[in-house]
Amino acid sequence: MANTKQKPVSILSLATFCFLSLYFVKKQAFSKVSSPSSLGLNQENLTHLHFYFHDMYGRNPTSVEVAEAAQTNISKTYFGSVFVMDCPLTTHPNISSKRIGYAQGMTAYELGLLMILHFVFTEGEYNGSTISILGRNLVFENVREMPIVGGSGVFRFARGYAEGKTFQLDVKTGNATLEYNVFVLHP
Ligand SMILES: *[C@@H]1O[C@H](CO)[C@@H](O)[C@H](O)[C@H]1NC(C)=O
Ligand SMILES: *[C@@H]1O[C@H](CO)[C@@H](O)[C@H](O)[C@H]1NC(C)=O
Ligand SMILES: *[C@@H]1O[C@H](CO)[C@@H](O)[C@H](O)[C@H]1NC(C)=O
Ligand SMILES: *[C@@H]1O[C@H](CO)[C@@H](O)[C@H](O)[C@H]1NC(C)=O
Ligand SMILES: *[C@@H]1O[C@H](CO)[C@@H](O)[C@H](O)[C@H]1NC(C)=O
Repeated sequence: MANTKQKPVSILSLATFCFLSLYFVKKQAFSKVSSPSSLGLNQENLTHLHFYFHDMYGRNPTSVEVAEAAQTNISKTYFGSVFVMDCPLTTHPNISSKRIGYAQGMTAYELGLLMILHFVFTEGEYNGSTISILGRNLVFENVREMPIVGGSGVFRFARGYAEGKTFQLDVKTGNATLEYNVFVLHP
């Protein structure tokens, strides 16, 4: 007798428990599975960007030293120094040619250079989009390859690499024009 009386109560509490569980699962959900195509990832495009990067010193420098170690001043390779840069990017070697963006970020001098920077584009379909680079720049090698670790805007989900080489270097002033070829996969 006692059993039959309790049955409806158990079913009711089970139903309440299920309802509450579902309610809280729904309330707390912060993720859902989306299809890659909803963000245009069904089609990846390979874009080749070619531009010149101007790194200049002197009165209006595009790179400034913000820190150095006590030993940096006796190192031939600036070991231990950190520079912050905001360097113009142009379509041709001439600094007066069309400006397409900037290389902004920092460089730490170790054996090579630790490059942490983004290319910020200001022209056409790329205006406002960025490509992030984190890589090792061995300045004495002819071509330096650095990985693309991501991007924004047109370059969301970016991957690829950048190749930099010295186009022109004035050893007296340190002014350099670097030629960059960037290969980037993106939606
Ligand atoms: C990538 O390619 C597709 C197909 O050709 C095109 O619709 C899309 O606009 C391209 N994306 C970019 C950023 O150029
Ligand atoms: C190169 O360096 C000098 C002196 O540091 C500077 O005045 C000049 O504007 C720089 N740029 C170019 C393109 O020569
Ligand atoms: C290098 O810097 C250190 C610390 O700032 C200083 O004591 C030393 O005299 C400097 N050496 C040279 C060669 O300038
Ligand atoms: C760069 O462009 C400027 C302006 O168009 C021009 O006066 C200058 O001669 C050019 N320099 C070189 C090296 O081509
Ligand atoms: C790039 O975008 C900025 C901000 O939206 C705008 O002010 C500027 O005129 C644009 N430049 C070009 C060349 O479209």
